[in-house]
Amino acid sequence: MPRSSTPRLTARNADRHDLYQRSVQLPEQEIRLLDKVFKAHTGRRPLHLREDFCGTALLCAQWAKSHPERTAIGLDTHRPTLEWGRTHNLSAVGVAAARVTLLEQDVLVPTRRKVEVIGAYNYSYQVFHERELLLRYFRAAHRSLTSDGLFVLDAIGGSEATCARVERRRVAGGWTYIWEQERYDAVNANFVCHISFEFPDGTALRRSFTYDWRHYSLPELRDILLDAGFASVDAYWEGTDASGRYGSGRYRRVSQAENECVWNAYLVARKGPPLPGSRDALRG
Ligand SMILES: C[S@@+](CC[C@H](N)C(=O)[O-])C[C@H]1O[C@@H](n2cnc3c(N)ncnc32)[C@H](O)[C@@H]1O
Repeated sequence: MPRSSTPRLTARNADRHDLYQRSVQLPEQEIRLLDKVFKAHTGRRPLHLREDFCGTALLCAQWAKSHPERTAIGLDTHRPTLEWGRTHNLSAVGVAAARVTLLEQDVLVPTRRKVEVIGAYNYSYQVFHERELLLRYFRAAHRSLTSDGLFVLDAIGGSEATCARVERRRVAGGWTYIWEQERYDAVNANFVCHISFEFPDGTALRRSFTYDWRHYSLPELRDILLDAGFASVDAYWEGTDASGRYGSGRYRRVSQAENECVWNAYLVARKGPPLPGSRDALRG
């Protein structure tokens, strides 16, 4: 029997950024939603994206690859992670990489070049523990958008999202992804979370990533976005697949939703006035 040339993944040969990307990132899903909501808002396809807290800039790279006129700006304060992204993700998309600009920059500082869409994913804005700081960030995002621009961010909630818990998930690549909410402080909504990875040979990368976050509810986020100057805020909820048990990866606008144990949603904030017939669904 010929032996596979790919070595078995263990803690010794695994790369934490690669594991992270393949465990939690869904750039195709993000691009599909950005296309859908921007087209509904403006009637045209979005071309210019900014990815906040971009980390390894996987979304920037895939965005640029998805259309020859598309550009992306990625913002992150951690230089080694940006470098990893340049080496592994930008180099993988050929000429499209020339349309991606990665800036080692705090998202609190507006970018001069205006973009049509800003995406902020994996709940990274929760790094801002103070409401004032989150407001400052949302204002900076507002200023960085074109007059018809959209700001899209994801949110997490549900009864189990706000308590200590551990979630384990087998990933197709052959490792187990572990999301650990170490503690949740009910007074300040502070929560400390870690990502670990376990491998079939019994080795593990423990607490490869740690986040010290404040949890924000959807109504809080909506209010802060409106205070920052956005004209309206819509919530998008994930549908279920044919079995009814799993998420379909397809999102639709909702005005209310059941507080399941754990849910993920997107908020879409519009800078310009809403289209006739469109309304602020969260207020609705
Ligand atoms: C959870 S990772 C998100 C990576 C990627 N965007 C995703 O969707 O998975 C959070 C990233 O935010 C960056 N970060 C934290 N505070 C930041 C700030 N104030 N401005 C820019 N980047 C920041 C960190 O360096 C880290 O790479």
